[in-house]
Amino acid sequence: MLNIDLQGRTALIGGASRGIGRACAEVLAQAGARLILLSRNPTDLQALKASLPHAGQHHILAVDLSDAAQSSQALQTLLQTEKLDVHIWVNNSGGPAPGPAHTASADAYRQAFEQHVVASQMILQVLLPSMRKHQYGRIINIISTSVREPIPNLGVSNTIRAAVANWAKTLSRELAPWGITVNNILPGFTQTERLAQIIQKRAEQAGCTFDEMARQLSAQVPAGRFARPEEIAYAVAFLASPLASYINGVYLAIDGGRLHSA
Ligand SMILES: NC(=O)c1ccc[n+]([C@@H]2O[C@H](COP(=O)([O-])OP(=O)(O)OC[C@H]3O[C@@H](n4cnc5c(N)ncnc54)[C@H](OP(=O)(O)O)[C@@H]3O)[C@@H](O)[C@H]2O)c1
Repeated sequence: MLNIDLQGRTALIGGASRGIGRACAEVLAQAGARLILLSRNPTDLQALKASLPHAGQHHILAVDLSDAAQSSQALQTLLQTEKLDVHIWVNNSGGPAPGPAHTASADAYRQAFEQHVVASQMILQVLLPSMRKHQYGRIINIISTSVREPIPNLGVSNTIRAAVANWAKTLSRELAPWGITVNNILPGFTQTERLAQIIQKRAEQAGCTFDEMARQLSAQVPAGRFARPEEIAYAVAFLASPLASYINGVYLAIDGGRLHSA
C-alpha cells in the first residue's frame, strides 16, 4: 500500500487557524509531520494544536505576517529555542481585501507586498539553512487561480499573487540542487471564511442574496460545487512528501476545472 508518510519531518504551516491552512495542518498531522502552526490568534492556534494527533509534538507561532521582520525573528527564536529544523513550508496567509485595482490605495499595495512577498522572503532565509542541511525542502505556496486568469474585483490580490508566483518559480530553479522544491497551488473557490466574505461582497454589489451569488459562482465550476479545504490539503501533503521529489516549479490549479486556460 502506498502511503504519504511525513514522519520525522517538521512543517511550518501559515494561516493555520482556519480554512485551507487549517485543513493542511490536519492532513499533514495525520501523515505524521510535526507542525509549527502560524497565524495571528494564539487562542485559535492552541485549540487547533490540542485537536491534532500527537498534540504534544506541535508548536504554535502567533505572529502577524504584515510585520515581516517581527514574524521572521519570532520564527528564528522558536527554531533556536526548540531546536527545530523545518523541512516543509506551507506558505499561506489571509488574502488582501476585495476591490478594484484602480481605486486601491498605495498603502494597500504596500501592505500586501510586505505580508505576501517580503514576509515570504524573510521566512525563506530563516528556513533555508535547515532545508539545505537536510537536502530536503518542500516550499508550497498557496496563491490563487488569478495568476492564470485575474479575478474581477480582486485587484490587489491579483497583483500580489503574480509577484509570489514568479518569486517561487525563480526559487524553484535556484534551490533544486539542494533537494528543495518550490511549487504553487492555485485554489479555486474553496469553502472557507475568505470565500464567504467574497460572496457576501459580490451579493451586496449585485443586489442579490448570499445564496443566489453562491449559486452563480458554483455554476462557473464544471464540477458544479466549491472545493472542500481538505481537497486542497491532500495535494499539499503529496507535494510535501518524498513521493513528489521531481515535481518542481509547477502551478497546480485545484479548481474543479474552472480555469479556461491550461
Ligand atoms: N477560499 C478560496 O476560495 C480561495 C481561493 C483562492 C485563493 N485563496 C487564498 O488562499 C489563502 C487561504 O485562504 P482561506 O480561504 O483559507 O483564507 P481564510 O479562511 O481567510 O484564512 C486565512 C488564514 O490566514 C491567517 N491570517 C490572515 N491574515 C494573517 C496575517 N496577517 N498574518 C498571519 N496570519 C494571517 C488567518 O488567521 P488569523 O486571523 O488568526 O491570523 C487564517 O488562519 C488566502 O491567501 C486566500 O486569498 C482562497
